[in-house]
Amino acid sequence: MSQHTVTLTDNKTGKTIELPVVEGTHGPPAIDVSKLYREAGFFTYDPGFLSTASCTSQLTFIDGNKGQLLYRGYPIEQLAEKSNFLEVAYLLLYGHLPKPTEYDNFEHVIMHHTMFNETVKNFFDGFRYDAHPMAIMVGVVGSLSAFYHDSTDVNNAVHREIAAHRLIAKMPTIAAASYKHSIGEPFIYPRNDLSYTGNLLHMLFATPCEPYEVNPVAERALDILFILHADHEQNASTSTVRLSGSSGADPFACVSSGIASLWGPAHGGANEEVLKMLDEIGDVKHIDKYIAKAKDKDDPFRLMGFGHRVYKNYDPRAKLIRQTCYDVLESLKINDPMFELAMRLEEIARSDEYFIKRNLYPNVDFYSGIIYKALGIPTNMFTVMFAIARTAGWISHWTEMIGDPAHRIGRPRQIYNGAAMRDFVMPEDR
Ligand code: CMC
Repeated sequence: MSQHTVTLTDNKTGKTIELPVVEGTHGPPAIDVSKLYREAGFFTYDPGFLSTASCTSQLTFIDGNKGQLLYRGYPIEQLAEKSNFLEVAYLLLYGHLPKPTEYDNFEHVIMHHTMFNETVKNFFDGFRYDAHPMAIMVGVVGSLSAFYHDSTDVNNAVHREIAAHRLIAKMPTIAAASYKHSIGEPFIYPRNDLSYTGNLLHMLFATPCEPYEVNPVAERALDILFILHADHEQNASTSTVRLSGSSGADPFACVSSGIASLWGPAHGGANEEVLKMLDEIGDVKHIDKYIAKAKDKDDPFRLMGFGHRVYKNYDPRAKLIRQTCYDVLESLKINDPMFELAMRLEEIARSDEYFIKRNLYPNVDFYSGIIYKALGIPTNMFTVMFAIARTAGWISHWTEMIGDPAHRIGRPRQIYNGAAMRDFVMPEDR
């Protein structure tokens, strides 16, 4: 069978070029433009990467029209129901569901890398008491590159694996320490006999003064949220990790760059913004005013937790999180008017022509904050929670990229539209 190609014609010169088409397992085919510049003298232009595949990947697939999300081929709904976060992290990192012994070994390794070097504690003291925990995360995770010199040879597969384990293991410890720093409480050391999320809850909420018991409802809810946030193919933060890593940079520094990108309100920072927005709306009777603001092109306000670059249907994660909201609030016997408000906001937005026409649905961030709030996690820690879970995806993408012998430094082109070449002008002549 002849190879699928696409022929481009330059209507200025009449010249044509035939470009190969690359097909994946699922998803639209892609035109391979890698030789376009060399053979035809053109760059491609795609701000925001609306139509550009930056790499091939075997990790995650999203069908935005169907509202489908697969990790290594497994539907997110099945993983959320039947798996747990550490198993999903293994799946993302190694490509298959672990056999029981593989899982036990992995869990043991992760739960025995949870402590950070004691001197890392000093970094926290350098931050003001009211520093945003995401700012602390960027700094402290980046600082790990100064500590683990035995695992920073990115060309060594064993080093890469150790770095991946360390990152997944230490993120909850660093996250909890950021929180404790902000409230002026002593850091709580990890407990390796607890589950991944149980240990995180312990480090967040225990104090040295009294015993702390992990609530299994909170532990499972957090685990489900972490499964749903673990990966999402080439989003801004993952692409940042890949681009940073493409130069051979240290993995801890690369993940720190991913955290920085995640923090933005258009990305993971939206979960914090949703709660602030719901707080500001305050009552069902004000919803119409905020819907009108979101539709007004002269008003920068956007409905936070709504819309997605890829999903033009209900984000499957939002569906699962909404259900988890019901379960958690019911189990913990919490009556949160904010959940009612969020559901009413969704209902009103989804029946509005503006949102229907643009296929704007609730995304992963719309309901997650209500669960975090129910678990006692403060608003400024929401994006940190996201970062802990997404570390599994970031480091799996980094591992996939570095392990691919075809990988090269990422170096986008540009269309320069600045001043044409001109001569320097002396100060007195300007
Ligand atoms: N409220 C109001 N209008 C919106 C919204 C919104 N939340 N999202 C998109 N639109 C409009 C936008 O104004 C545009 O309208 P028009 O065609 O008239 O110019 C149209 O919908 C398409 O939007 P876009 O900005 O071109 O879409 P994008 O793919 O570049 O941006 C997005 C996607 C997620 C950044 C955007 O929908 C948004 O800002 N949402 C709110 C922030 C948010 O919830 N972010 C979390 C994303 S999911 C989790 C994650 O990535 O971490």
